[in-house]
Amino acid sequence: MRVLGIAGSPRRGGNTDLLLAEVMKGAASRGAKVKTIILSRLNIAPCQHCDSCLKTGRCKVKDDMQKVYDELERADRIVLASPLHFMGVTAQTKAMIDRCQALWVRKYVLKQPPLGSKRERKGLFISVGARKVANLFEPALATVKSLFRTLDVTYSGELVFPGVDEKGAIAKNPDALKQAFLAGQGLVE
Ligand SMILES: Cc1cc2nc3c(=O)[nH]c(=O)nc-3n(C[C@H](O)[C@H](O)[C@H](O)COP(=O)(O)O)c2cc1C
Repeated sequence: MRVLGIAGSPRRGGNTDLLLAEVMKGAASRGAKVKTIILSRLNIAPCQHCDSCLKTGRCKVKDDMQKVYDELERADRIVLASPLHFMGVTAQTKAMIDRCQALWVRKYVLKQPPLGSKRERKGLFISVGARKVANLFEPALATVKSLFRTLDVTYSGELVFPGVDEKGAIAKNPDALKQAFLAGQGLVE
C-alpha cells in the first residue's frame, strides 16, 4: 500500500507539516510505503487553460507537475495537507489541483480512468486555520472534495483544526497529533 503525502504549506515545519508527518508515521506503522512531496519545493505553474489536454488527457507543460501525476497514479492513499489561506487552500496547493484539469479531461471527456489503473484509492484532507468561526473549512473542503471526486479517490474524511496560527502551535495540542497518527493508521487498514 503506497501512501502519498502532499505538503501544501509554504511554511516548512509548520502546523500542517507536523500533522502530515504524524499521519504518515501512523500509516508507516501499519506497513504502508509512505512518500511525502513538498509543493513549495516544486516548480508547478498554474493552469493556463490552453486546452491542449482536451485531446490527450495530458498536460503539455513540462514542469514538476509531471512528477506529481506519476506519484498520484502510483498512490493507493492520498493525504493532502494545506492550511487555510484566505479561506481556501494555499496557492501552491491550488496550482497543483488546477493542473489536475488534465485528469478531469481523462475522466469526463475521454472516458478513461483519471489515474490510469482502476483500483480503490482513498483520500484524506488535513488543514488548520487561525480563525475560530463556524464553517471555517467549508470553502477549502469543497475544493478538495472536488479534486478527489475528479480523481476517483474516495473521500475518507478530514482532520481540521481551527484556532491554530503560530508556527508549531499544533504541537501544544498532543491530542491533535495523536488523532493524526491514528488517522494515518486508519487510512491504510
Ligand atoms: C496568506 C495567508 C492567508 C491566511 N488566511 C487565513 C484564513 O483565511 N483563515 C484562517 O483561519 N487562517 C488564515 N491564515 C492563517 C494560517 O492558516 C495559519 O497560520 C496556519 O496555522 C498556517 O499553517 P502552516 O503552519 O501549516 O502553514 C492565513 C495565513 C496566511 C499566511
